[in-house]
Amino acid sequence: MRTISQSRDLLAALLVLSFGCSGCLFLVAAADTGPGPPAALAAGQAPPLPQPGPLAAPRSKEQVGFPAALTASVIPPGSPLTPAAVALGEKLFFESRLSGNGTVACATCHDPARAFTDNRPLSIGIHGRVGQRNAPTILNALYNETQFWDGRVHTLEQQAALPITNPLEMGSASLGDAVSKIAGDKEYQAQFKEAYGGGVNAEDMLRAIATYERTLASFDSPFDHFVAGDAAAISDSAKRGWDLFNTKAQCNRCHALTEEKRDTTVFTDNDFHNIGIGILRHRVVPLAQQAERELAQGDLQAIDTAAITSDQSVLGRFLVTKKPSNIAAFKTPDLRNVLVTGPYFHDGSQETLWDVVDHYNKGDGLQNPWLDEDIQPLALTEPEIDDVVAFLASLTSPQYKALGDQEYARQLARSKVSRPQRDTARAFGPKPVQPKPPPF
Ligand code: HEC
Ligand code: HEC
Repeated sequence: MRTISQSRDLLAALLVLSFGCSGCLFLVAAADTGPGPPAALAAGQAPPLPQPGPLAAPRSKEQVGFPAALTASVIPPGSPLTPAAVALGEKLFFESRLSGNGTVACATCHDPARAFTDNRPLSIGIHGRVGQRNAPTILNALYNETQFWDGRVHTLEQQAALPITNPLEMGSASLGDAVSKIAGDKEYQAQFKEAYGGGVNAEDMLRAIATYERTLASFDSPFDHFVAGDAAAISDSAKRGWDLFNTKAQCNRCHALTEEKRDTTVFTDNDFHNIGIGILRHRVVPLAQQAERELAQGDLQAIDTAAITSDQSVLGRFLVTKKPSNIAAFKTPDLRNVLVTGPYFHDGSQETLWDVVDHYNKGDGLQNPWLDEDIQPLALTEPEIDDVVAFLASLTSPQYKALGDQEYARQLARSKVSRPQRDTARAFGPKPVQPKPPPF
């Protein structure tokens, strides 16, 4: 019998193969559920379409740790979470007719069975086209002050419009074109009428999708139970990890709303930082000069296309602000459910949480003049790294407990044979001297 990690390696090899020969016609047959990345696809094929089910259902307000006041504050007064609007939004979220050829829906890349991600390093959309970025989870996206890795929009309504027309994602010719595909459907006509009192139209379509997304608040994790007073809810290792998170490992400098007080809600400062991801693989200055020439400030459609379809993706927040200090800066993501939303970072470049912590531990500073000042060698020992990972794993909501247990075992097994980011000498060494930003 093959072990899990052997069949993973086989899958990885097949992945390389199938990407390496674009004319190949073979299909890799493999179960498309469970932990780790889904099956590779034949060239030109869009990923399979997930179906709605219990995991897609709105989450309860009774969850332990549910931030009632914060949640109320992020729901626009004009778009209450009425049952009719939520049901319409959920249906639209799974609607492949909104794509150019009827094959791709939001759920394709935000699959409820995969904690509303696709678990692929980079998302794959219409005609099997591979984008430049990793799909973040929709769980708790309602709390994000900005959406996308570069924060190019503020609201979930603005966000939902972009993938529908992005040529690599859903590839509709226009928003109006997408609406026209469902406008004649009697069921939609009735649902739009019930939810908003009018006909099928783009504005209410985006509003309904956003409203559905605002029902996906995800708490009730072992960590929430621990914070609520159940000392036995998380392991001693996870408790040590939570301490390290706020002290020696300095994660709270970015993954907390405030640095003064231990923050247990959404694990992000809603800000943007260059933490050294992907930058070494690209010649950043020429790319930034090109983006300055080509992208008009505020041209959302052009920024969206550049971010998903071009090398300029690595420029991150710079695409939006054109500030050199924002080169390769990305949004600090929420860390809830992070165990089941891998692979990690905006480019999906790290496979396990051990790889993520190894990255921070060595303080990747070499050749990166824009690196955030809070990135530095941390001198975490191996048991301390395990503790931080155990804490991150304790942020998994109960819907994903079984998947999380399997994924933890998979990552642990992987980490025993492969730690590509581990560099103990650098982790215990001084912070490398940072080069000055080149003239620009
Ligand atoms: C082909 C895959 C794909 C499809 C289809 C897709 N998305 Fe995404 N989604 C992504 C990727 C990749 C990102 C990150 C892109 C970026 O940051 O530039 C993203 C980002 C998001 C975000 C921002 C989350 C955050 O934390 O910043 C939301 C919300 C979202 N998508 C919702 C949707 C909705 C709603 C739809 C359908 C209208 C949709 N997506 C369709 C792949 C996809
Ligand atoms: C200087 C700010 C900063 C610090 C300090 C920091 N992070 Fe992050 N974190 C970020 C940003 C920004 C990203 C996204 C970067 C990217 O994708 O390019 C990120 C991404 C992550 C991710 C990937 C999440 C995902 O959905 O892909 C994890 C996990 C993570 N951080 C955990 C930690 C841990 C654990 C620590 C402490 C050891 C830490 N971070 C310290 C800013 C920070």
